[in-house]
Amino acid sequence: MGIMQRSSIKRPNDSTRILVTAIMGIAFGFFVGISISSTHFTKISLLSSVGSSFDVPVAEIDRFSAEVDRSPAVIDESSGTKNLETLGSIRVPKIFVTSNPRGAERLPPGIIVSESDFYLRRLWGEPSEDLKKKPKYLVTFTVGYEQRHNINATVKKFSDDFAILLFHYDGRTSEWDQFEWSKNVIHISARKQTKWWYAKRFLHPDIVSAYEYIFIWDEDLGIEHFNGDKYINLVKKHGLEISQPGLEPNNGLTWEMTKRRGDKEVHMTTEEKPGWCSDPHLPPCAAFVEIMAPVFSRNAWRCVWHMIQNDLVHGWGLDFALRRCVEPAHEKIGVIDSQWVVHQVIPTLGRQGEAEKGKSPFDTVRARCRSEWAEFQLRLTNADKAYLEGLKRNGRF
Ligand SMILES: *[C@@H]1O[C@H](CO)[C@@H](O)[C@H](O)[C@H]1NC(C)=O
Repeated sequence: MGIMQRSSIKRPNDSTRILVTAIMGIAFGFFVGISISSTHFTKISLLSSVGSSFDVPVAEIDRFSAEVDRSPAVIDESSGTKNLETLGSIRVPKIFVTSNPRGAERLPPGIIVSESDFYLRRLWGEPSEDLKKKPKYLVTFTVGYEQRHNINATVKKFSDDFAILLFHYDGRTSEWDQFEWSKNVIHISARKQTKWWYAKRFLHPDIVSAYEYIFIWDEDLGIEHFNGDKYINLVKKHGLEISQPGLEPNNGLTWEMTKRRGDKEVHMTTEEKPGWCSDPHLPPCAAFVEIMAPVFSRNAWRCVWHMIQNDLVHGWGLDFALRRCVEPAHEKIGVIDSQWVVHQVIPTLGRQGEAEKGKSPFDTVRARCRSEWAEFQLRLTNADKAYLEGLKRNGRF
């Protein structure tokens, strides 16, 4: 396959020491001192129809209700909490709800919180008043300290509708506090890992479900001609589930599809060199963006995340497979031309591989990228085959 120009070449460290410092300015709302106002629950009423698949004797339910009624969980302003411990130690009939998330069947559905977010909260006050504004989109960068000036310029292009999350591959996090904005963003640090390694571990769809769009970007993008809000508007206008900004320069190092077109707002298809595309609706002529600066809708990400392999950390080959996640892919994957970025090609982590068998660190990383691509393609093809053969055997055709 021809063009091998990819974004930052990154190699995982052999070291198993994984340092994960999630510096969240404020920890999760784990404030158990229930000195809250009485509006919260003056009385707890029993939900009559908890969709339980277990046979719970009606007598048991009645006993439970009666016991709840006898323990008025009144929170009064002066004394703080009253009777909370009584309710906390009440005997609860057996619950088992098969439609609950796996592993949580014993919980009443009303208490289950299966999704999360990266909102930073306070340790005091009303939880409902913690946030002045809930960011709607999530922007992640995989960064090293040396690229701080580029990132400083980049974050300015995103309004307060965007939450920023930095993945640090060089272990340097506190130094970023020289930037005022750094104190309001989330920092995750694990040495010498790649963007897709972090994405698989920290951007589970249930964790980022609060965000309509998720940016998974490299650190070396020149962002002078880019604006986050305008970008999102165009993505929505054209109904793109997976997108990227057009790339400059048009120096022949990149795929035709991802090059910025000066005459367009957005494009979904392109022409490659003769013979490169078996079908004009398939990669690399359509249904395709590169892995250096993709933007996913919440739904597309829910699918793509599942396709990322834990051990194939460079993500090579993923770009050709993104089309598996949206339908029709040639209409829902596209490149935004009027908000574009410059690929500066600074392979920061690429130089952090290790020399091996006479190969330079850069070359050992590059070799792994290529073999990961082959391995990923093989796994995907085998998975297709196994599934489709299975259908045939089961007479579903
Ligand atoms: C970050 O960028 C802003 C301009 O966008 C600039 O004023 C500021 O000095 C930069 N901060 C540092 C520490 O370089």
